[in-house]
Amino acid sequence: MATAAVTKLAPARRALVQLCQTRCAQTAAATATQEQPRYKKFKIYRWDPDKTGDKPSLQEYDVDLNKCGPMVLDALIKIKNEIDPTLTFRRSCREGICGSCSMNIGGVNTLACLCKINANTSKALKVYPLPHMYVVKDLVPDMSNFYAQYRAIEPYLKQKDIESDESKIGMEQNLQSVKDRAKLDGLYECILCACCSTSCPSYWWNSDKYLGPAVLMQAYRWMIDSRDEFQQERLQMMEDSFSVYRCHTIMNCTKTCPKGLNPGLAIGEIKKLLAQYNNKA
Ligand code: SF4
Ligand code: SF4
Ligand code: FES
Repeated sequence: MATAAVTKLAPARRALVQLCQTRCAQTAAATATQEQPRYKKFKIYRWDPDKTGDKPSLQEYDVDLNKCGPMVLDALIKIKNEIDPTLTFRRSCREGICGSCSMNIGGVNTLACLCKINANTSKALKVYPLPHMYVVKDLVPDMSNFYAQYRAIEPYLKQKDIESDESKIGMEQNLQSVKDRAKLDGLYECILCACCSTSCPSYWWNSDKYLGPAVLMQAYRWMIDSRDEFQQERLQMMEDSFSVYRCHTIMNCTKTCPKGLNPGLAIGEIKKLLAQYNNKA
């Protein structure tokens, strides 16, 4: 009986030994591959206003992808920590929430923390600040105009009785039906990263007068909030040939939004509201 069992087990053991040998060989091969550095070239826009006469240029950095996280922001942080502490960029949350790491990566406006590094090491990756913005330093754009435009649309709940008597603030709940609340989906998620506005040709040429897709989408968000009582005034504010009507529905904005939102559609909806508003007037 015992001899029969051994004979039966022998092929199974042999197979097990073979499997172990194969696995060991695979692991050794994988380890050897991992140990081979995989250098990727990053060409990054540099400009330092504190260096007299400094001209913008692309600086090259080689980063070993085996020792770097998967996202472009990981590479930037690695470069800053280990290669060049002078490299300047904004970031905070590193998970697509704060909107501060927006930049132009490989020709596309997006968030560095949500943008995977293309693992093809034969191709360099170019990184620029958001296009058509004044630059503070390196990858940091000046957002002053963008924020001033956002402030101008009064991005907060406005109600008539509170406007006339501020002591009423916070005295009553502002209830909203589930259906009305759902109308804000796809609008309230905007993180104001400005990727859309700075991809819009109309905004490039008229950013002093045209509000741009990000700010317009927020204007629309407050126009259609069932609790807000200033829709007419909000529309009135946009009744000129620049604020809204510089949008020519090119849709770069929607294409580039790293949060998958549709500012182009929101602008279309504002235009419809304006048409209704003008017909009533
Ligand atoms: S709509 Fe999208 S791209 Fe534009 S600011 Fe908001 S999150 Fe950024
Ligand atoms: S749809 Fe309008 S806002 Fe969006 S990119 Fe085109 S012109 Fe700009
Ligand atoms: S670091 Fe906050 S969105 Fe990228």
